[in-house]
Amino acid sequence: MRKLFLGLLGTALLFSISAPAGQSQKEIERQILKIAKKYGCLTCHDIDRPKNSIPYRIIAKEYQGKPGAVKQLVQSIKGASFAKWQKIGPEKYGMKPRAIYMPRQRSIPVEEAEKIVKLILSLDTSKVKVKK
Ligand code: HEC
Repeated sequence: MRKLFLGLLGTALLFSISAPAGQSQKEIERQILKIAKKYGCLTCHDIDRPKNSIPYRIIAKEYQGKPGAVKQLVQSIKGASFAKWQKIGPEKYGMKPRAIYMPRQRSIPVEEAEKIVKLILSLDTSKVKVKK
């Protein structure tokens, strides 16, 4: 019984780490927009449309699979972000450079920032083109 329980717990943990991946892309996008709307992120971001800043799907493409991505992006949101994308070079995603400074987002709690970052990172980026 104990073994079974631990097995289940292990599986649950495994799923909770990759939680958003199990959801449909539509559901992921819906949740991103819900959080982004609540905390005013939509003034500058959209999932696919460039606004004042880089769209979330491009951010996902840049950071997917990079170690420490969640932590760094949460830090960017909570602590401000300056000129990171100038260095990354949005041109490689076929985009013009955008605003270079994101003020720190006071209204969003850390847990919500972590949630939206994980959702952003689980966006499907298979169709994002990268220029060589
Ligand atoms: C006033 C405009 C503005 C608002 C509001 C804003 N952002 Fe940003 N965001 C930016 C800009 C500009 C950048 C690019 C900063 C850079 O190049 O360092 C950025 C970058 C980011 C990045 C990538 C950071 C990195 O390290 O590469 C994430 C993730 C992000 N924003 C999420 C959010 C979320 C979530 C919210 C809402 C809580 C939000 N932003 C609100 C302008 C904004």
